[in-house]
Amino acid sequence: MLRKYFWGLLLLLYIPIGQIQAESLLSLIDHNLNFAIKQDSLMAITMLNHPGRLPQTIDKQGNLVTCSPSWWVSGFFSGSLWYLYEYSKDNQLKSYAETFTQRVASQQYTTDTHDVGFIINCSFGNGYRITGNSAYKKVLENAAHSLSTRFNPVVGCIRSWNGTKWEYPVIIDNMMNLELMFNATHLSGDKRYEQIAISHANKTLENQFRPNGSCFHLVSYDTITGRAIAHKTVQGYSDSSSWARGQAWALYAYTMCYRKTGNSKYLDQAEKVASFILNNPHLPKDKIPYWDFDDPAIPHTYRDASAGAVMCSAFIELSQYVPKKASKEYLHVAAMQIRTLSSPVFRAQLGSNGDFILMHSVGSLPGHTEVDVPLSYADYYYIEALLRYRKLLLGEPLFPHKR
Ligand code: GLY
Repeated sequence: MLRKYFWGLLLLLYIPIGQIQAESLLSLIDHNLNFAIKQDSLMAITMLNHPGRLPQTIDKQGNLVTCSPSWWVSGFFSGSLWYLYEYSKDNQLKSYAETFTQRVASQQYTTDTHDVGFIINCSFGNGYRITGNSAYKKVLENAAHSLSTRFNPVVGCIRSWNGTKWEYPVIIDNMMNLELMFNATHLSGDKRYEQIAISHANKTLENQFRPNGSCFHLVSYDTITGRAIAHKTVQGYSDSSSWARGQAWALYAYTMCYRKTGNSKYLDQAEKVASFILNNPHLPKDKIPYWDFDDPAIPHTYRDASAGAVMCSAFIELSQYVPKKASKEYLHVAAMQIRTLSSPVFRAQLGSNGDFILMHSVGSLPGHTEVDVPLSYADYYYIEALLRYRKLLLGEPLFPHKR
């Protein structure tokens, strides 16, 4: 009897437990990427009937809400499609990605907001990375030039918004736009873009963080002295609170800045943000944060899947740059976040949720907009996180060309 099972038992003993777990995470990731392909294909078919528009969220009745190319989220849908094409090599997805990338082309000339980085790098940036299409390269360079017009050398930062009550507002989200600037220097050889990115990252590091590693949402600067004169929030609970997506942007962006420059002070900052998030008593056990770490209503308030997805993708990258113990912790948390976001609590059923993938994100609670809804950027960073973790499980480099 025992002899019958001898080889099976031997094989079981031989496969380390970690490998079994890794394999089941891999199949969960593949399952959800294949779901994302189906759901985003439904969205693409719907969006073909909304010329010139891009998916944003759903309204209270569950109807799809679309946005114009100038809204900051417009590049995420085509970015998701590029990622899914990269995964599947399905030409239908490539065709959708090209169509919805083209819809945001006008934004390469946008100079009245910092969001040109989000819009163009997620769409054309991924498109260029995957296809090498030289027309896309020119768009990236034009967009970086547009963004560079918002840089003030006295302040040392790119201005975030126009027409507000602040003298020179810079929000933490703006750090995400720096990836476009680093890429533009790589593509064009023009060092100015990278210099602007480094200046912005340094000034933000000096002024936007608290000693505990958390960040303010908005810092306004004096344009005569270059000094920080106000520390505020727009989308968080209060000026002194820690808005979850802001912490996620900081974690992601300083990790990216380390990848782009090799400067260890950016890595240190990313680890400080990670420590703030992971040691925060208000981070739920399933690792998807409430919309603000300091909302006194916790636990009776909203989660933000978008912040969870951005953090997850960032933790996966950060795990590659730190010693083994921290690396294991970041990957453990990222795996939990993937499992939570992929569970029926957060992941929609096929054809529901306005054809978005994730439920339960928060755009702006103080603004009473997009509360507990799907958001196109939650889907984008979720797909990115799935692909990043998948690469690690398969032993592939996350950034083969360090860019
Ligand atoms: N960049 C705007 C936001 O994160 O809501």
